[in-house]
Amino acid sequence: MMKEIRLGLIGLGGMASVHAEQIERIAGASITAICDLDTAKVAEWGSKHGIELSSQYSSPEDLIRDSGVDAVLSITPNNVHYEIIRLCLIHSMPIMTEKPFTRTYAEAKKLMEISESLQTASTCMVGFSYRYTPSFRLAREMIRSGKIGKVRHVFLQYLQQWGGPLFETKMNWRMDRSITGTGALGDLGSHMVDAARFLVGEPLEISAIMSSLIAQREDPLTGSPVDVDVDDFTAFVAVLTDGIPAVFQTSRNAYGSQNQFEISVYGDTGALQMGWEYGDTLHWTHPNEEGKPIKEEIQVSEEYRLQQMQDFVDLVRGTVREETATLRDGYLNQRVLEAVEQAYVSKRTITVAEIEAASGVMQSASEVKK
Ligand SMILES: NC(=O)c1ccc[n+]([C@@H]2O[C@H](COP(=O)([O-])OP(=O)(O)OC[C@H]3O[C@@H](n4cnc5c(N)ncnc54)[C@H](O)[C@@H]3O)[C@@H](O)[C@H]2O)c1
Repeated sequence: MMKEIRLGLIGLGGMASVHAEQIERIAGASITAICDLDTAKVAEWGSKHGIELSSQYSSPEDLIRDSGVDAVLSITPNNVHYEIIRLCLIHSMPIMTEKPFTRTYAEAKKLMEISESLQTASTCMVGFSYRYTPSFRLAREMIRSGKIGKVRHVFLQYLQQWGGPLFETKMNWRMDRSITGTGALGDLGSHMVDAARFLVGEPLEISAIMSSLIAQREDPLTGSPVDVDVDDFTAFVAVLTDGIPAVFQTSRNAYGSQNQFEISVYGDTGALQMGWEYGDTLHWTHPNEEGKPIKEEIQVSEEYRLQQMQDFVDLVRGTVREETATLRDGYLNQRVLEAVEQAYVSKRTITVAEIEAASGVMQSASEVKK
């Protein structure tokens, strides 16, 4: 009989509920331990989901050391990612950690070094959830099998509206550099960077602009205005592997955009368009018998569907899929995010090789504006 995988869930906020719903539908896996700094949340979640009192924690380390836990889900704000991943690495605890991988490249680098210094391989998956979008998976296969010929350029945009002035969104951790690292860049841009890496290739050379359209927001506790010290708009151009140019843009002030993540990949003999708001449809433009471009709407079949939590449970059981985002993917993603910020700060093109070569902490975008 298949061994039950007992999961410890750290962070009981919005995204944790999404993952917990997926886990309820997976045979042979369940959440048996929980942790949150907010003890009222822990008690509420615990009684709703029947978690034993002895498996309810407010300290991530206590949960990670619980011998009744086989693997950890870390669904916490970005400032907590580094320490939870570090603890899981040193305690050989398999972990699925949310994106962005860390707040900074320095944190990501330290984790990579810790992982490389270990005697045994670590099991760490990073929650780049769009790798599980069926149209993205089919597109990857089609690009790799040459269905659109040589790839010539890629356009990616990830737009949301919740930060715009009409929404009067108050200050929250996603706008506070000390907690989030970067703003739209890390939150949404990390997904774009991962999609570019997943579908086409590694961003190697970057030029960028970043801005904070709304400079101050109301502190929900005091009612006073506080400074926003991260970007809510970022655009960058990158040269990917094999010299393929790619254009990226992200905003939290795009009025009318709920979750508009769209990608277009253009090759010599065809093009592919996909997006979160297109559902399971992949748009494939290719020449018809007369050589004229026709746009086909492919309804992606079920064989391209894989749930993120199923992938993680399979990984914990020993099934390693080539397309799963690993700790190294998290590290490389963070290296690109750092290059974007440094390109903006230095007003020049930055290569990821320069980021790797630089020692110490480089300047942040918010420091430049002061
Ligand atoms: N993959 C995706 O598409 C996706 C979508 C949304 C969020 N996320 C990521 O998930 C993470 C969490 O986002 P969210 O929207 O659920 O945030 P949230 O604010 O709704 O929830 C975070 C929870 O973590 C708890 N917490 C904070 N510090 C903690 C600590 N030290 N130990 C234990 N618990 C702690 C908070 O009390 C809160 O309950 C973020 O990194 C975010 O980027 C990913």
